[in-house]
Amino acid sequence: MTKEQIKLVKQTWRLFRGIDPALIGDLFYTKLFADNPSVKKMFPPDMEQQYIKLIDMLTSIVGRLDQLDTLTDEIAAMAQRHVQYGVRPAHYKLAGNALLWTLEKGLGKDWNSEVKEAWQTCYTLLSNTMINASSQSPAT
Ligand code: HEM
Repeated sequence: MTKEQIKLVKQTWRLFRGIDPALIGDLFYTKLFADNPSVKKMFPPDMEQQYIKLIDMLTSIVGRLDQLDTLTDEIAAMAQRHVQYGVRPAHYKLAGNALLWTLEKGLGKDWNSEVKEAWQTCYTLLSNTMINASSQSPAT
């Protein structure tokens, strides 16, 4: 990611976080499940905690985008938990599409092609890191 892209992701995430997490979570998972009904059964019926966990994790990642190496272990551990949840590499594209869509809806007039490209690059970086870590054995 370029410095400019990191700045854009940080700025727009700050704006986006002004929205109620329950609303963001609801939008994201409604979109994810509408586009990919088979994914729904992977998640618990009560999703409220999940909204908060996802948003907190993204906040921590976005906050350290310029020093992602400090998060490598955390991201790898998360990726390995995802393998246990039944998540496969192909699922990452589906979640990425739902995330981009949710950001676009939430940001409204603050969404544009540069912001889109910055988030696409950011998500690709994150999901590739997770996918690579998924195929490695868990740290002991
Ligand atoms: C960059 C991408 C992702 C991030 C940052 C993320 C983040 C999280 C976080 C923070 C949790 C809470 C539990 C934990 O930390 O282990 C979680 C749980 C979970 N995630 Fe993800 N996730 C991502 C991608 C995906 C994808 C692609 C799928 C599959 C479609 C998925 C499915 C799940 C499931 C099934 C759970 C467990 C729910 C439960 O049983 O409580 N995640 N995710």
